[in-house]
Amino acid sequence: MDEGNRREIFTAHNGDATLVLLKPDVVEKNHIGEILAMYERAGLKIIAMRMLQMDEKLAARHYEEHIGRPYYESLVKFMTRSPIVALVLEGEDAIAKVRKLNGATDPSQAEEGTIRKLFAESKTENAVHASDSKQNADREIGIFFG
Ligand code: CDP
Ligand code: MG
Repeated sequence: MDEGNRREIFTAHNGDATLVLLKPDVVEKNHIGEILAMYERAGLKIIAMRMLQMDEKLAARHYEEHIGRPYYESLVKFMTRSPIVALVLEGEDAIAKVRKLNGATDPSQAEEGTIRKLFAESKTENAVHASDSKQNADREIGIFFG
């Protein structure tokens, strides 16, 4: 399969595409299925998915805008400690919809019924990642499925 074809398969045809990561905490606790079901029930379509373990280099690429922040070292330690699941969701307003479903970064601030309220432990170990803009979605999908 050539690169053009490969990229096309992971490109949304119905609305936006956004990158989601199920972080080590929820994979360790066997919550993959429950979280995927929440996205599917919200009408989002999984168009690509893989399990992998991040290394420091991949974490630095994904979290490049956070390098140098006070929490960066603990974030990388957390994200590299065990496997994650990376997926691409597509749908109408998928970028905004998934951010809302995930809830606030700090689970103690997250709304009832959100994924972070239900499954997250702390501001660092907060269950899920989702792209925050079209530009970041394209960049992040390229990192995991390019
Ligand atoms: O993930 P989200 O876009 O909601 O938050 P962010 O501000 O882009 O931060 C990226 C990730 O860094 C968060 O999801 C947390 O895992 C971590 N973080 C942290 O450990 N401590 C903070 N004060 C802020 C973020
Ligand atoms: Mg972010």
